[in-house]
Order: sequence, then structure tokens, then C-alpha cells
Amino acid sequence: MKLTIQEQEMLDGKYGDAVQKAMELLVAVGDCYDAQKMVPITSVHLNAGSPVTAGKGGTKFIMDVAERGGKFVIPVTINVASIDPWAWKEMGFSEENYREQEALSGVTTKMGGFNCHTCTPYQIGHIPRMRAHIAWCESSAVLYANAILGGRTNREGGPSALAAGLTGRVPAYGYHLDENRYGKLKIVVHVDLKGDTDYATLGYFAGKIAQDRVPILTGIPPSISDHELKCLGAALATSGSVAHYHVVGVTPEAPTEEVASGFKKISSSDTFEFGFTEFKETEESISNVGPEEADLVVLGCPHASIEQIKNYAEALSGRRVKNKVELWILTSNIIKKYGEDIGLTNIIESTGTKFVCNTCPNTMPRDFFKKRGYRVAATDSPKLAYYISTMKDMPCYYGSLDKFIDIVTSKR
Ligand code: F3S
Repeated sequence: MKLTIQEQEMLDGKYGDAVQKAMELLVAVGDCYDAQKMVPITSVHLNAGSPVTAGKGGTKFIMDVAERGGKFVIPVTINVASIDPWAWKEMGFSEENYREQEALSGVTTKMGGFNCHTCTPYQIGHIPRMRAHIAWCESSAVLYANAILGGRTNREGGPSALAAGLTGRVPAYGYHLDENRYGKLKIVVHVDLKGDTDYATLGYFAGKIAQDRVPILTGIPPSISDHELKCLGAALATSGSVAHYHVVGVTPEAPTEEVASGFKKISSSDTFEFGFTEFKETEESISNVGPEEADLVVLGCPHASIEQIKNYAEALSGRRVKNKVELWILTSNIIKKYGEDIGLTNIIESTGTKFVCNTCPNTMPRDFFKKRGYRVAATDSPKLAYYISTMKDMPCYYGSLDKFIDIVTSKR
């Protein structure tokens, strides 16, 4: 790989031990993928928010880097934490959970990161420019950055994104290169989709087929909202390892199908129909239990936007969460504050619903749910349904809120 003078100096140790180790790691990654050079990046979204997902080894690694004097040279936002930093006590987390979280957040702040602790940094102003090279973790955020914003990132892991934050560089491979950004298969949508959950079901279907390829979706109206695109992308990244996608006539690299595919014809064997049958089959396949037994309902995965909070307020207004049920809405404290200022949080909290900020079930301590006695979950997100079922060992129902609202709430 050809390095610039400054990159070679980083590798030679001129900028200190932490930068040297970071550059060694990036060069090794680049060599694996035959990268010819490094590219400068403008930002990082780093998966170093939760000591649970980082694990003891990952947490020690981050602390070692900080001790060696590591400082971020570009803006770095930090992904979700393991607890809600404001409501951890009333939610039943332990002092130890709190201390571990504080220790990790303290270190990433010292290094220059912004502990916004959200998986939707683009909802709070972290918005890369079109074609800007970036290094983002968090699969749903990666899809949003690539497909909706037109930024350029691979699905980074924690160590490589950390190294990118310390050096301001990534090796030029994968989605940093034009040729890898074109669509390779096509999903033709024949159903009239309405709302986040419908689009998430489409995403789950398309991700299973695409796996690590870039899908082109056609038949989606230009009126699709940002939060519907967010939910579509998050589901694409759950059932497959998709990092980029195109919606013809909607996303910036897909004004036409031809442009999205790089003017290569998509063969009929790489063209898939998504009609009512596929929709129903996919939706049903995500649940492994009915909603009747749900005692924990979690909405807002990826973290809810202000528009989604408004939709939840409309749906929940005039209702009361049933006694044996807990209903959470996940979001960032910044979006929650917006909701407070315009009177939405008040409507929602008066129903008995709780806002859970800056965290997510997936990054909470594994035994938390069993200890709290939750048995069955329900959610409107396929990503969360997948993680709750597999990582937290809880059966989970998946569907739009209107399908189970009468089961988990009653009219006042
Ligand atoms: Fe975000 Fe957690 Fe969902 S990190 S995308 S709320 S699984």
C-alpha cells in the first residue's frame, strides 16, 4: 500500500505510540483487502458505548489506547450505552453496571468522543456530506450513511473505527470505491407499503436474499419518509450483512435503475418479486410467539426520531399501559428533549410508557431481563426481535403497534 509522508510518519511512531499502533492495524486491514492507499475521513461513529458489547477485552483495549495518549483527530460520536444514564436505578440496573458504564464513557470523552450514545447519530446532527469518506460502526447507521446520505463507509468493527478516529484515515477498499457501490440484484416491490414496520418487513426479506450484495429496490414511492428508510435499512442489515442499498427515484445514487447498477443489466436470476405473499410470509417468520403474553414492549429501534415519537403519541393518546406490561420507547436524550419541549413526551408518559434513553436491550447486561422477570417481548422492529430472541433468550413478537396495541394497553 502506498502511504503519504504523513501516514508513513504515523506508522514510524512520530505521532506517538497510540497512533502508531492504530496505523499498523489499518495497514494490516488494508493489506487483507488489497487496498492501494489510505483515504482521509471526515468522521467516525464508534461502537464503544457499552462495556457489555465491548466485553472485558474490548474495554481494556480502549482504556489502553487512552493510556497511551490516544486522542481523536476528527469528530467521533459514540454508539449506545449499556444503561440509561438517567433512569438506571429505577430500571433496576446495579451500581456495578453504572460504574462500568461511567468508566468507559469517561475514557471515550477524554479521547475526544461525543457520548451521545445513540445508534442514529444522523438524527442529532452527525451528517456526512455526499461522497465523504467516513468510518462508521453500527449496521443500521452504516446503511443510512451509505444509502440515504451518500457517505462512504464499510461496516467497521470497533478496533478499526477506533484506529480511524486516531489517524483520520481508512484503507481505500469496499464501499469507499465507486465500483463496489453499484447494485447487483433487484427487488421489485408490488405491495403498497405503509409505515415503518411494513418497510422493515421488506428490508428483512431483501436482506436475506442480498446477504452481502448491494440490492436495488424498485416500486417504492418517492414519498417514503426518512424514518421508513431508516427502518428498511436496519432490517436489511439484520437478515443480511448488507452495507449499502438503492431505492430507485429516492436514494441519491439511484436516480434511475441504470445509474444504480452502473449500467450493468441485472439478470432475471438476480431479480426477485416482493408481493403480498412474500410480505405475509416474511412478517410471520420474524415472530416466534404471539403478542398475548408480552410483558415487555420495546418500540424505537433504531432510536426513534421526533416524527416517530409524534406517531407513537398519536397512537397511545387516551390509553393506559396495562398493569403487567412495561412499554419502552428507545431514543436519544437529545430527541427526547425535543419531544419534551413540544409536549409529546408528556402525552406518552401519561399513558405509563417509559422513555429509555441512550441505550438498547441489545447492549444491556445479558442477565438483566431474566433478573427483572420479563418473559415475552413484543416490538415493531425486526432487528430488535432478532436480538431479543437470540441474545436475550426471550421469545419475541414482531408487528406494527396497531396490531397489538389493544393487547398491551386499554382505553381510558
Ligand atoms: Fe439501535 Fe439497539 Fe436497534 S443499537 S438499531 S436500538 S438493536
